[in-house]
Amino acid sequence: KPNGLKEVYKNNFLIGVAINANQINEKNEVQNALIKTEFNSITPENIMKSLLIHPKKDTFNFELSDKLVGLAEKNNMHIQGHTLVWHSQLSPFFKEIKDSTEMVNELKNHINTIVGRYKGKIDAWDVVNEALNDDGTLRKTAFLDALGEDYLSLAFDLTKKVDPDAELYYNDYSMTIPAKRAGAIKMIKRIQELGTKIDGIGMQGHWDLNTPSIEEIEKSIVEYAELGIKVAITELDVSVIPMPWDFSGADVNVKFESGDPTMNPYPEKLPDSIQVKLAERYEAIFKLFLKHEDKISRVTFWGVNDGDSWKNDWPINGRTNYPLLFDRNNEKKKAYYSVFNLKSDS
Ligand code: G3I
Repeated sequence: KPNGLKEVYKNNFLIGVAINANQINEKNEVQNALIKTEFNSITPENIMKSLLIHPKKDTFNFELSDKLVGLAEKNNMHIQGHTLVWHSQLSPFFKEIKDSTEMVNELKNHINTIVGRYKGKIDAWDVVNEALNDDGTLRKTAFLDALGEDYLSLAFDLTKKVDPDAELYYNDYSMTIPAKRAGAIKMIKRIQELGTKIDGIGMQGHWDLNTPSIEEIEKSIVEYAELGIKVAITELDVSVIPMPWDFSGADVNVKFESGDPTMNPYPEKLPDSIQVKLAERYEAIFKLFLKHEDKISRVTFWGVNDGDSWKNDWPINGRTNYPLLFDRNNEKKKAYYSVFNLKSDS
């Protein structure tokens, strides 16, 4: 029997995980061992975002990212850099730049310094993250304002120049919404028409028990692959609790603070019936990934265990969610076994 997920899927795609400072710490022995057994790709969940790695024009903090790269190298893991150009968790100095020449120079400095430091070590980069609105138009950001839409190809060109061997990805969420999908395809075609190298697209998997449908996920994988690029499923986590928009018109914050159980339905323990639903959902998702394994380079979970997940605090702080394959004690959930057994039994 294979030892962990990375062995189960070794002929199909990489199995990745996002980690934070807490998992880099050597004292976190349980999670360190788990990461080593189960996963063969690492993404920094927050550590390499501009606000943390490049907080001021001339200040770079490489302490944590060096440790993360060291840990991944020690364990022979693929590393996905996340992320070079993103409007969120963005260093304040970038937000203030209005002049195009200054923006080009600062982007150059940002990319040259970070990508240069990890040249040959970081295998792939999320070069640009979340440049699209859900209607498929380009999101208004400091980069778009200063440089127009070709800031996108510029970012890819600059990265390629520093590390020609690194794989370059565009990464975004809600990539299964038809309008956004059409916008993403248009955007990538334009980048390709300019002669810019782009190797892949990351579909963030911030999904829930029912949405998006398997059909929409499949359509998206197929259509993105038709661009001649790899598809990675990134940031996978399946929420099991309702989202505020499931309650039309509800003033969710007030309701949650007053203890409305529908907003935090399982504060102590996930009921068995929902565990089973989560396992079935993960099984259906991974069946689909296997069907399209020729198009998929990597599937990355957004966090090690349920307690680490950002989904506990989103979109309302303090909820208890259970979106991953390991519980708060790092024990394997039913969902883990549904993903593991899908292949290892066959
Ligand atoms: O580190 C500080 C800590 O010192 C402070 O006490 C605490 C108080 O709020 O905040 C901590 O920083 C938080 C950070 O995560 C580290 O835990 C930030 O507030 C919080 O905003 C930040 O959230 C991250 C989020 O990106 C920011 O947008 C999530 O962990 C991270 O999972 C999430 O990841 C993004 C992807 O990068 C891009 N796609 C969407 C995805 C989910 O939002």
